[in-house]
Amino acid sequence: MTTEPTSTHPALENKNWWRDAVVYQVYPRSFVESGGEGMGDIPGIVSRLDYLADLGVDAIWVSPFYTSPLHDGGYDVADYRSIDTRLGSLDDVDTLVEQAHARGIRVLLDLVPNHSSSEHPWFVELLAAGPGSPAWDRYVVREGRGPNREEPPNNWRSVFHGRGWSQILDAEGEPTGYWYLHLFDTTQPDLNWDNPEVHAEFRDILRFWFDRGIDGFRIDVAHGLVKEAGLPDFAYPEDGDPDATPAMFDEDVAHAPFWDQDGVHEIYREWRRVADEYDPPRVFCGETWVPNPERFARYQRPDELHTSFNFIYLEAGWDGERMRKAIDDTITDHARVGAPPTWVLSNHDVIRHRTRLAPVDDATGERDLERGLRRARAATVFTLALPGSMYIYQGEELGLPEVVDLPDEVRQDPAWFRSGGTDGRRDGCRVPIPWAGDAPSYGFGPGSASWLPQPADWSTMSVLAEQGVDGSTLELYRSALRARRESTALGEGPLVWLADAPAGVLAFSREDAGGASLVCALNLETTTAVLPAAWGSSVVIGGETAVWLRA
Ligand code: GLC
Repeated sequence: MTTEPTSTHPALENKNWWRDAVVYQVYPRSFVESGGEGMGDIPGIVSRLDYLADLGVDAIWVSPFYTSPLHDGGYDVADYRSIDTRLGSLDDVDTLVEQAHARGIRVLLDLVPNHSSSEHPWFVELLAAGPGSPAWDRYVVREGRGPNREEPPNNWRSVFHGRGWSQILDAEGEPTGYWYLHLFDTTQPDLNWDNPEVHAEFRDILRFWFDRGIDGFRIDVAHGLVKEAGLPDFAYPEDGDPDATPAMFDEDVAHAPFWDQDGVHEIYREWRRVADEYDPPRVFCGETWVPNPERFARYQRPDELHTSFNFIYLEAGWDGERMRKAIDDTITDHARVGAPPTWVLSNHDVIRHRTRLAPVDDATGERDLERGLRRARAATVFTLALPGSMYIYQGEELGLPEVVDLPDEVRQDPAWFRSGGTDGRRDGCRVPIPWAGDAPSYGFGPGSASWLPQPADWSTMSVLAEQGVDGSTLELYRSALRARRESTALGEGPLVWLADAPAGVLAFSREDAGGASLVCALNLETTTAVLPAAWGSSVVIGGETAVWLRA
């Protein structure tokens, strides 16, 4: 199938754009607001496309904006084909795609196939129908254990803490003895991917959006969806929190009967066939929390997903050995399947990398955010030189730290509530972006309020405060993205580690087919490093700094 191109921008001609793209993640509720209710929206995104074009990104990935009760920030979708009226309309999405394309920027949306919202018509129908009805087979429903079926069908826990199952109640509110699975919140029932109707529905959802001209999808919990037949109990690691499924990424959990099942690959083959029907072909990026690099790369086989987020690298922290191993493993295993690696340092689920990489003072327990910023900037520059594509999370280009002191009463992360306030601090990276000015909401919207309060000291980190200012983090991102785009040695291609790097320095060279080359060095130590003169003219770099040297 061919859809009318919405633009003839030359950047859109490259069908392999995803192999080395810089993709910017927009978390719509927190990006920019055009209305006056304190919540970001789709017209807001449209109004900042020039900013994104100037920044130099190739594509945006927009987190969910579909109709949703927002029990998990929109990752609880009640209708996959309509827009939450607080965020906009289908017409607004069409405008977004058209206007982004006019600037040569691709648009990826977010698909949530592991679960729907409990307000999705299918789940509402399930609750109204009796056991055995076809409506029950669209979700993972089983009889309970115990004489009165009052115990859940197995011991699976929710990622957001507590039981992974809830009992279905009848119209009178009485327990039915049947339970539905929710690996996340109780309002996010897991869909049954053994049911062909679920497959047909999602193929149709893909086509609905592809027909509107979007360029592809990021796939939520891409390693979930399929559960091991028989739903066996899982031997949870004994040292873990007895109340929660340990982080999706924990090696001990990687083999759980609800993650990374072989059967999930068949779904992506099916979707790839749909994506390839289009011209240009649509693309996928999986949220694939699989800690084993070889199993991770299997998702990127030629007839499956194009790319997936590389959380192995994100988890490596400020540790040269782990970073290098993550890079080597990723490159080797991806080369085997012919896919480009991707790199990511921050997103809407993890602590912003300025804060995450900041060293903690042993005496006070405080994080040194100044050093955190140095490291974050260096990590970004280093990462942008790696082969493949890179994901940037909104606000990291301003050097925003995590907001760690949100008052309990404004928190919205479902894991916060399910853990009794011991976990679930994902709101701290979702605080709205400061655009300009001294007073909250720093130009985020027309009013002074935003759905999550912004810190009092963010005016110096606003877009207006940083743009045009030499040395600001925003200008660093802009110039790095510009240089990356202009350099034929960056993007896809080989990487060669430089053996003569001084201690504490990770350094590699990149070379294009014509012999143009670039050296990238990251000094992980706090002290100055002297680089071999053979690498280029600039031979001394400061502590916790990265450089690109053009030969
Ligand atoms: C993914 C999303 C996260 C969401 C979860 C459940 O990990 O990135 O925000 O809470 O899936 O949908």
